[in-house]
Parts: sequence; structure tokens; C-alpha cells
Amino acid sequence: MLGREGSGVQIEGATALVTGANRGIGRAFAEALRERGARRVFAGVRDPSRLEVAGVEAVQLDVTDAAQVAAAAARCGEVTLLVNNAGVLRHAALIGAATMDDARYEMEVHYFGTLALCRAFAPVIERNGGGAIVNMHSVVSFFTPPDSGSYAASKAAQWSLTNGVRSELAPRGIHVVGVHVGFVDTDMASGVDAPKVTPASVVAQALDAAESGLPEVLADETARNLKEALPRDQEVVYPAIRAAYVEATRG
Ligand SMILES: NC(=O)c1ccc[n+]([C@@H]2O[C@H](COP(=O)([O-])OP(=O)(O)OC[C@H]3O[C@@H](n4cnc5c(N)ncnc54)[C@H](OP(=O)(O)O)[C@@H]3O)[C@@H](O)[C@H]2O)c1
Repeated sequence: MLGREGSGVQIEGATALVTGANRGIGRAFAEALRERGARRVFAGVRDPSRLEVAGVEAVQLDVTDAAQVAAAAARCGEVTLLVNNAGVLRHAALIGAATMDDARYEMEVHYFGTLALCRAFAPVIERNGGGAIVNMHSVVSFFTPPDSGSYAASKAAQWSLTNGVRSELAPRGIHVVGVHVGFVDTDMASGVDAPKVTPASVVAQALDAAESGLPEVLADETARNLKEALPRDQEVVYPAIRAAYVEATRG
């Protein structure tokens, strides 16, 4: 028995699937899982020819493609740990974007993609005696910056999904971890000139939570501060954001 209600998953000897595993945080998950003794690590990638991670098995997986999600669940039948990491940041405003295409795509990847993977792999993990799911959120699950409002909305939806799935899957022996973090040193944040944490530090905390049964990881100071500020966000978070945006758009 690898997992039961209220407990985590034992990574040593486990079989895991990581989405978006060819670079960034996903690649760090795949490498750390191997280092912690996972028996098999499936790397979900859109282009298997670009995977350069040793000791993992590539699985063709665009999380927005229902047929590929079903094929992955059929192929990776030993999985006890699923990591929903795949993500995309389109830097689209909610009102200012020319169309709603980016908003829809971010929702497809973060909300519907994560939901599809959870639904496909819950029976797999349960059949294998239980285990865990890790979902990569963001600090913008907690607040909405005006320059990337649709990304934030999709991350808030994903966070809500995680909280619902955790309760639904608890009686089935599947522990669910939600991970929140600010800037991480990957391609996604390459244009940002601000302090960033390493992918490895985020992954270490996420995998510790998957093993110990913690529901939520606040992986850096920004995440810890913003979660603490949530009850008073209209007083302590949004006024400064709005003032900076008004100033920036004044031209
Ligand atoms: N970097 C940050 O500052 C930061 C902060 C908070 C949260 N996050 C979250 O952490 C996760 C990983 O981000 P990252 O920084 O590692 O980003 P990244 O370096 O841009 O990598 C994104 C990964 O997701 C994959 N991906 C994108 N769309 C996909 C789809 N439809 N199906 C399958 N895979 C897809 C990409 O595959 P391709 O190589 O094929 O494009 C790539 O492997 C994301 O969910 C992101 O929102 C990142």
C-alpha cells in the first residue's frame, strides 16, 4: 500500500508521470524523482525528440489533447504519483487582449488539462493501492495582476480544482498537493528582472509534501506572504497593484 487517506506516497520504488517534463520545473521534477529512487519516471512531453533527461521514458502528451491523455493513462498503468506541471504564460490582459484566445488556452492547459489528467489517473493510482497527485499552481492563484489577468484566473481555477479533488480523492487513498510559488528561474520567467528561486528548491518541497501528506506548499516568501494576506487582500495587496498599473498606463 503506497498511500491511504491522510498519508502521502512513498517515492522510492514508485512510478511517476510528470507533465511538461522536458524543461524548467517539470524537468527538475523528473530528475529529482529519479534521484529519490522512483522505479520508473514517465516524462510527458509534446515533442519526445526534444527530451534530454536521463533515465526517464518519454510519453507523447499535450494535456489539452483528450486522446493523448487517455493513451498516457493506458500506457502508464503502474503510476502512483502524477505531477501536473505543464503550463503556459501568454501575458494577456483580461480586457486589453485583442481576443479571448489566450484566456481560453490558459484555461485549457491549467484548468481543463489538470482536470483531465486527474480524472484519467485517479482510477490508475487507486488500482495501484493509492498514491499522490501534485498540482503546480502559482502565487497568482492568490491575486490577479492586470498585465496577465487571464493566466492568473486560470491558476485560481486550478487551485480551486485542487482543493475539490483533494476531498474527492481522499477516500480513494490519493493525497493531493497544491504548490504555490513566485518567480522560478526557468524559461517562463526569463524576461523577469526580480529574485527567483530555483526549480530544484520548489520540487524538493513539493515531493516532501507528497511523501509526508501535506496538502499545500508555499514554496517561497512571496507565496507565504500572499497567502497570509488573503483575508485582507483588498487593503494590502490590490491598492499598490492598481496604483502601479495606473502609473504605468498614464503614458
Ligand atoms: N517559472 C515561474 O516563475 C513559475 C512560477 C509559478 C508557477 N509556475 C508554474 O510552474 C509550471 C512549470 O513552469 P516552468 O516555469 O517550468 O515553465 P516553462 O519553463 O515555460 O515550461 C513549461 C512546460 O510546460 C509544457 N507545456 C506547455 N503547454 C503544454 C501543453 N498544452 N501540454 C503539455 N505540456 C505543455 C512545456 O512544453 P514545451 O517545451 O513543448 O513548450 C514545458 O515543458 C507551470 O504550470 C507554471 O505555470 C511557474
